[in-house]
Amino acid sequence: MEKIRNFCIIAHIDHGKSTLADRLLDFTGSVTEREKQDQLLDNMDLERERGITIKSHAIQMDYVHNGEKYVLNLIDTPGHVDFSYEVSRSIAACEGALLVVDAAQSIQAQTISNLYLALENDLEIIPVLNKVDLPSANPEEVTDDIVDLLGCKPEEVIQASAKTGVGIEEILTAIIERVPAPKGNPDESLQALVFDSVYNPFRGVETYFRVVNGEIKKGQKIKFVATGKSYFADEIGTLKLTQHPKNKISTGDVGYLITGIKDAREVKVGDTITDSADPTKNPIGGFEDVKPMVFAGIYPVDTEDFEDLRSSMEKLQLNDASLVFTPESSAALGFGFRCGFLGMLHMEIIQERLEREFDMTVITTVPNVSYHAYTTKGDIDPIIVNNPTDLPDPSTIDRVEEPYIKATIITKADFVGNVMSLCIEKRGQIVNQTYLTTERVELIFDMPLAEIVFDFYDRLKTVSKGYASFDYSPIGMRPSKLVRVDILLNAQPVDALSALVHFDNAYHIGKKMCEKLKELIPRQQFDIPIQAAIGSKIISRETIKALRKDVTAKCYGGDISRKRKLLEKQKKGKKRMRQVGNVEIPQQAFMAVLKLN
Ligand code: GTP
Repeated sequence: MEKIRNFCIIAHIDHGKSTLADRLLDFTGSVTEREKQDQLLDNMDLERERGITIKSHAIQMDYVHNGEKYVLNLIDTPGHVDFSYEVSRSIAACEGALLVVDAAQSIQAQTISNLYLALENDLEIIPVLNKVDLPSANPEEVTDDIVDLLGCKPEEVIQASAKTGVGIEEILTAIIERVPAPKGNPDESLQALVFDSVYNPFRGVETYFRVVNGEIKKGQKIKFVATGKSYFADEIGTLKLTQHPKNKISTGDVGYLITGIKDAREVKVGDTITDSADPTKNPIGGFEDVKPMVFAGIYPVDTEDFEDLRSSMEKLQLNDASLVFTPESSAALGFGFRCGFLGMLHMEIIQERLEREFDMTVITTVPNVSYHAYTTKGDIDPIIVNNPTDLPDPSTIDRVEEPYIKATIITKADFVGNVMSLCIEKRGQIVNQTYLTTERVELIFDMPLAEIVFDFYDRLKTVSKGYASFDYSPIGMRPSKLVRVDILLNAQPVDALSALVHFDNAYHIGKKMCEKLKELIPRQQFDIPIQAAIGSKIISRETIKALRKDVTAKCYGGDISRKRKLLEKQKKGKKRMRQVGNVEIPQQAFMAVLKLN
């Protein structure tokens, strides 16, 4: 146990976490030439393309220091706010963290939020100044920033380059000398923290755990405390680049477990694994069921594909337990599902996986957060509004509450004014403003989550010319003045285009939506009026003019081969259009409300 070190790497996105992990594996000889690939830890296709570590993994390295053999467990943490609970559990499985800061970019919002998580878990922090090879690097200044942030000594900040290999040995030495060895008692009953799980279509769910007390043995009957279910440990082992089966994993160490579980929902991150016959009296603290934050409808483009969509979603849920869905129907779109996601990125990932892995073509409706509505009947439990159509009749509503977040934004002093105006426009209230240095400012706002879902990231980037980083965490429900804006096409309400918005913005949004839809919906053989309404009151109107004959003639020229080519092309690029009444609506129109600026 005294020769084990468990650590993670925390960093703002793109500061070099994955590159540094690769370099550590290289240096400790944990990777053979054959296994060498860029970004070894990111092994899902989608992850590689997006350059974001979606699922955390763990890897074990052997390293000899001063003639003694050490086992280093690197626990990878996902780099996106949508997956912050997984980050917190990965951090809880470690005793130390490398805090990686880009020598050109200095401290950013995620640097700070991850640091706080690490400090809450009493982790030993090893500051690493990465990318010192960059011509734009500012090592002295950024070291000062780090010293200010951590209250450490400048000599404790390791200068490194994950690209050239500078500082790597020093980092390994620091891990051994500064990160404490795990504590715990091998003789106590088993207590292991689940910090991640991965679905393997052949072997079932692989659970990643860190043993806090006791030991886990091959064949042992174990129990998951939160779910209350027991299984046999068919296989346990340690994780190198591949799995190495073992007969036991003892206190302080990290490993994987295979029990034949086929449904990802049975393994919950944050749960405690214990012995079935001699269960621990103290499950590891901090367990939470992850809750979806963003909801949207997913509908098949072709109504006949509903059953296919259902079976695809069920399969997806087997390996992504954070996806939740219930059937719903829409007057405009027919049968589909209301789905809950951890955030916008999670939603995009699900949509992409449905298309790639299951060959489904789907329409996703305007995402919204989950509101609580209380009626004048004085009910104690709120009506949960995950779909605009669930909002009770306005005349019966007593009050509505919406989820709020604490937003942390770090930007340059020059952009403070712009960022403030944006946040206030998004109904934010400033809580704190701190000058980290003379040039860099940390702003903290309380803001409605709904405003983050709508185009906030893009706007923030624009108003700060890219010099702002952003992170958030939920802080509970607060009262809100909410209304539903409905859209009518050809005088017919299209429920799938309805959006829940704050009353103060309703007129503006209604007008913008009509304008945007006019842009997005292709012209057809007849005029199409577009109207926005609150209840029976029309608040805005636009008209899509009918196509004129000669325009079609010009487009297609009557040339049959050209027409065929066009048809062929349309078939290839999947046609995400939905016929609603006699109007064809493209997918972008359903998301129009997200892109109003
Ligand atoms: P996420 O996994 O998306 O959070 O990013 P990350 O923090 O893992 O960053 P990643 O390792 O993908 O590195 C981001 C970019 O910085 C890549 O293009 C790397 O090649 C580059 N990079 C990483 N370390 C160094 C370094 O020491 N020097 C230089 N010049 N570039 C580096």
